[in-house]
Amino acid sequence: MHASSTALQVRIDLGERSYPILIGAGLLDDADAFQAVPTGSDAFIVTNATVGPLYAERLARALAGRHRQVRQIVLADGEQHKGWTSLNAIFDALLGHGADRKTTLYALGGGVVGDMTGFAAACYMRGVPFVQVPTTLLAQVDSSVGGKTAINHPLGKNMIGAFYQPLAVVCDLQVLATLPARELSAGLAEVIKYGPIHDMAFFDWIESNIDTLRACEPAALAHAVERSCQIKAEVVGQDERESGLRAILNFGHTFGHAIEAGLGYGAWLHGEAVGAGMVMAAELSRELGLVDAAFVQRLTSLIERAGLPTRGAVLDAQDNAGRYLQLMRVDKKAERGEIRFVLIDGPGRAAVRAAPDALVRQVIDRCCAA
Ligand code: NAD
Ligand code: GLY
Repeated sequence: MHASSTALQVRIDLGERSYPILIGAGLLDDADAFQAVPTGSDAFIVTNATVGPLYAERLARALAGRHRQVRQIVLADGEQHKGWTSLNAIFDALLGHGADRKTTLYALGGGVVGDMTGFAAACYMRGVPFVQVPTTLLAQVDSSVGGKTAINHPLGKNMIGAFYQPLAVVCDLQVLATLPARELSAGLAEVIKYGPIHDMAFFDWIESNIDTLRACEPAALAHAVERSCQIKAEVVGQDERESGLRAILNFGHTFGHAIEAGLGYGAWLHGEAVGAGMVMAAELSRELGLVDAAFVQRLTSLIERAGLPTRGAVLDAQDNAGRYLQLMRVDKKAERGEIRFVLIDGPGRAAVRAAPDALVRQVIDRCCAA
């Protein structure tokens, strides 16, 4: 039996831009998992110097019957390379090999490769097809789904990008076996976030299964990826371009992006910054009377058990809160310089709103490591 026939499937409903998310063990080697892609075109696997040697040849073999030619583009690894130089390397390779409008890009890697490949696909000849083949937990539960693509700018994270949906997302759970423990923990931050914003029953389940998740137990990972993708598909299906609801998926990200940009991209992993950022956002929610201290403690304890930081980084020894505020004003949710936070408005429900600077300063002072 083909692996894809036993795979879990989540569908993201976006009219003519709808697509399947396949989740299962061994999908990387399974030609049937890529049925959503038209046959006959050329293909490029875009990957990085870490993931490419591990998995690109296997994916190329699975795609051989579907495409005329399958080439590889291997980028430098790391969040600090999520910028113009890597993006141009993709365009150089596509133009150098005469890629046309039907050429299909496969993003094989974590969120960095996925976001850059998606953005390259959106731009090249004003849009070519692409497929997400996420290889980190973070990418499988979040970044590969929903069509946000981007590169970083020194002044702000993911500031240059486009909404551009893939033809399919193919999550092979087996590739998570080679993921370093720190990266697995970073992915758990994005799994945990779905609980407080949308589904406290899922939060209960994560609390009960956090140790098996950290041990990469296959059934636990499969459920975490499936439920996360279901929630993300539900939210994105209602608000593809983040005119409102979709912003809740950024719980913890306003503080987190400030940490990433403030320390320099790559110093903290994205998921680590989101872990500490969720604690800060929950504390702000408590200050505003939206949740109680017991809820903040429960969330903090789960983030800690996931192996993530629960205290923010110090970004400026003189005026730490001021530096956070300065960076957060560049956030994409900010309106005319007013920062808007994703807050928890009672467990399982999120709200997006502004907060007084003085209160935000207090939270930052209390939540950052000395
Ligand atoms: P990443 O892409 O940097 O991958 C983490 C590390 O793991 C890298 O060194 C990578 O080479 C390595 N790796 C990947 N798969 C591996 C495997 N199977 N075995 C061994 N090593 C492997 O980081 P990430 O956490 O996957 O993604 C973070 C990025 O995702 C950030 O840039 C963030 O902004 C973005 N993001 C985007 C969205 C979205 O909706 N588009 C959502 C969340 C995060
Ligand atoms: N990761 C946030 C979003 O996709 O909207």
